[in-house]
Amino acid sequence: MMTQDLPGQPHLAYRDQDLFSEDVNLHELARQHGTPLFVYSKAAMLAALDAYQRGFAGRKVQICYAMKANPALGVIQVFVQAGCGFDIVSGGEMQRVLAAGGRADKIIFSGVGKTRAEMKQALDVGIACFNVESEEELEVLSEVAVQMGLRAPVSIRVNPNVDPKTHPYISTGLKDSKFGVAHERVLRTYQRAAALPGISVKGIDCHIGSQITQEAPYLDAVERMLDLVQAIEAAGIPIAHIDFGGGLGINYKGDTPPPADQLWQKLLAILDARGFGERQLMIEPGRSLVGNAGVCLTEVLYLKPGEQKNFCIVDAAMNDLPRPAMYQAYHQIVPLQTRTQAPEIWEVVGPICESGDWIGHDRALAVKSGDLLAVLSAGAYCMSMASNYNSRGRAPEVLVDGSQSHLIRRREAIEDQIRNESLP
Ligand code: LLP
Repeated sequence: MMTQDLPGQPHLAYRDQDLFSEDVNLHELARQHGTPLFVYSKAAMLAALDAYQRGFAGRKVQICYAMKANPALGVIQVFVQAGCGFDIVSGGEMQRVLAAGGRADKIIFSGVGKTRAEMKQALDVGIACFNVESEEELEVLSEVAVQMGLRAPVSIRVNPNVDPKTHPYISTGLKDSKFGVAHERVLRTYQRAAALPGISVKGIDCHIGSQITQEAPYLDAVERMLDLVQAIEAAGIPIAHIDFGGGLGINYKGDTPPPADQLWQKLLAILDARGFGERQLMIEPGRSLVGNAGVCLTEVLYLKPGEQKNFCIVDAAMNDLPRPAMYQAYHQIVPLQTRTQAPEIWEVVGPICESGDWIGHDRALAVKSGDLLAVLSAGAYCMSMASNYNSRGRAPEVLVDGSQSHLIRRREAIEDQIRNESLP
């Protein structure tokens, strides 16, 4: 048997003509469950997590998987079993963690717009920390906690004003962004927090953006965060933990983000040099734990060669894979079975009635209708942002573990879509 690895895709390899995820033949899986179909590799997720764990070896750290990247219960369970906590941004995400067997006291709650109901829910189950993003939110959280006879554990999310050099929609740590409390106001906000009856200051937090592929923004943010911790502690407010957020990028198109273990060794060296090596740390990685652990399998419905462009119409669309339409994102597309014929250049598009419904521009593929393709790096922010646009049911999800595969979400039926509707 001939095997051929796919660079940057640890769980994928061709064995003779067929693409496998771990020991599972993806062609057979697609025939069994239909397409479009998301397939995730458990080993790839654990390998990504392991890089973080190696980077933090011997340190006090809680890795909180930012589950917005992929909130499937079956995926959450993998991280629960590996000892992770969770970064959530809604009451719904909290319910998912609990439903998958996660512990409330390992949950941290981020987001600029937490509602009173969500605060109450989270205080009720006893989450580890609220990452608070504004002074008003702080006041409301204190009020809600006092009504419950509690004190809410809090970090203030700092906006360190560093440029993560990524897509503007996923930059979050610049001055003009809606996230976090501006650097200059942070000390004042901590003083306010310390004086509020329903607040217990626990830590400090930042998150500068997503799909970050350079280490400089991280190094800058760490220095700025430590400056703040020094100032806050000098004002008599102890900071028990420092949370550096998520954001580490993955390889979509030959991107070369620093490996997690190397990045953290560097950041820890800064912490050591400045005397913070013993501090409890937290991080909130999402994409880098699951992005390259997933693929979306899709069937070629029709080929439509044209004068200007050749269209390859597949059965996955922008409702399944919104990243190209939203961020002009690049996802590699490869065949599930290799062919010997010469490739041609195709616009790979979905069936949705919009020109924005494209999956890949100018892709060299040797395809015919009925062929199956894999859209790579689809483990993060694909299914979690999927919609029912054009009344398309959302795709099923399968978790691969060695030679086993488990259906962790069945295909959404039309009954699921119309369940909550009624005719007047
Ligand atoms: N922590 C906070 C507070 C966040 O807002 C995010 C992501 C993360 C952690 C995890 O970041 P990651 O490690 O995944 O980069 N839909 C976009 C990405 C949006 C990211 C939003 N926040 C995309 O498809 O590229």
